[in-house]
Amino acid sequence: LGKIFQVSGVQYGRLESNVTLACGKSQIRIPVAWHLNHSSVLPWHKVTSDGTLVLLHVDHSAQGNYSCYDNRGLLLHSVKLRLGHPPGLLSISCKVPNHTHVRCSWVDSVKTFLPAKYNASFRGTGQEWRPCVVDVARKHCDVDHPAFWQTIHILRISETNALGSETTSVRFRLHDLLKPDPPESVLVNELEGYPKRLIVSWNFPSSWPLHDAFPLMFQIRYRPQGSIYWSEVYAEESPVMIFDALAGYPHEVQLRARDEVNSDSQWSEWSPLLLVRPWEVSSTSESPELLLPDYIFPFNTKPETSTAKPPGGIIITVKLIKDHPEDEGNLGLAILLVLFSVVILTTILSLIFVVWMRQRRRDHVTKQELTSMVKMKSMPI
Ligand SMILES: *[C@@H]1O[C@H](CO)[C@@H](O)[C@H](O)[C@H]1NC(C)=O
Ligand SMILES: *[C@@H]1O[C@H](CO)[C@@H](O)[C@H](O)[C@H]1NC(C)=O
Ligand SMILES: *[C@@H]1O[C@H](CO)[C@@H](O)[C@H](O)[C@H]1NC(C)=O
Ligand SMILES: *[C@@H]1O[C@H](CO)[C@@H](O)[C@H](O)[C@H]1NC(C)=O
Ligand SMILES: *[C@@H]1O[C@H](CO)[C@@H](O)[C@H](O)[C@H]1NC(C)=O
Repeated sequence: LGKIFQVSGVQYGRLESNVTLACGKSQIRIPVAWHLNHSSVLPWHKVTSDGTLVLLHVDHSAQGNYSCYDNRGLLLHSVKLRLGHPPGLLSISCKVPNHTHVRCSWVDSVKTFLPAKYNASFRGTGQEWRPCVVDVARKHCDVDHPAFWQTIHILRISETNALGSETTSVRFRLHDLLKPDPPESVLVNELEGYPKRLIVSWNFPSSWPLHDAFPLMFQIRYRPQGSIYWSEVYAEESPVMIFDALAGYPHEVQLRARDEVNSDSQWSEWSPLLLVRPWEVSSTSESPELLLPDYIFPFNTKPETSTAKPPGGIIITVKLIKDHPEDEGNLGLAILLVLFSVVILTTILSLIFVVWMRQRRRDHVTKQELTSMVKMKSMPI
């Protein structure tokens, strides 16, 4: 028979076991009648000679209020039956968002269907046990100011319900679990006049105290929307300037943080993706292909070329090669080729013209000679 607990009119029993319900404490003379929820329809059962009800191989439908009556219909005893399982081992995971806090949460490996109490305690190797303060509803417990200098820590959690108790222990290193929360208030801005730049700024995670004592390292990653390749930048301080954004394209940007000193610690989760377009000359252009190239902007040539500004066309080439070594370098070459072709074409045309003029003059002379000969011929001799 299953283990039986009786707590203030409630009796607990194990699912899939046989559950025995006594009709009161004293010996009862038979016959007695059992009812469930005021109905005489009972699950699979037998009644023993002393009036005890044995429910066989119970499932959830056997829960409810059981009452036993004597043969005159008088209520002798009433009890509420709840069914479930004793606790099993817990699956525990701990988070260490800063050097002063540990939060461990757990999930049951067995669904017990019954209310439970938890007792959690925590200690470093060779230290006293101290409580890990439990939040039953959220199934986690907290330790403030753990002994971070201890390498190994042990957490043990006991789960107790009406049907039993089970203790689960885990060992871990706080250094390995240290994982900051993601950076907060992340902003990505365009920089006016710079179509290839983005400025990324952020705050330390609010759960990370004492900036100076515990420095953080930040990793920023970005890519043009649709690209599968990220570019990365590392920084200790906000803000950071991205210099090689793809002009005219929206960029995905996010960042994460890690304790700078402790190389065993973990990176935070990534901050949410932000989508930002670098500065453009006109927001009305629909597609990047239609955008005017950088070198048109008077703004841009000033700060991004270090050479002195020569007048007119020459600066175009300088700028082109600096910004887009491949694409716009080719464009410069194309312009040169076109100019060259025009020169050659003009030369050829002039030559043709000169030749043609000469030919024409010679033709004229020949014609004159011919006419004079004809004239001479027709003259009467
Ligand atoms: C429950 O009771 C039935 C009938 O008395 C018996 O055959 C069975 O083995 C019992 N099961 C358990 C788990 O005790
Ligand atoms: C079972 O009993 C309790 C207390 O006696 C009562 O509050 C509850 O309504 C009962 N439930 C049913 C289904 O009879
Ligand atoms: C009896 O009542 C309980 C609620 O108190 C309910 O959960 C259970 O299903 C009922 N059982 C039957 C057989 O009606
Ligand atoms: C919880 O566990 C600690 C350490 O094992 C023990 O001292 C304490 O009495 C327990 N508390 C409860 C409520 O069981
Ligand atoms: C450490 O993190 C916890 C949990 O986020 C937070 O409650 C606590 O205030 C933080 N400690 C400090 C000193 O900021």
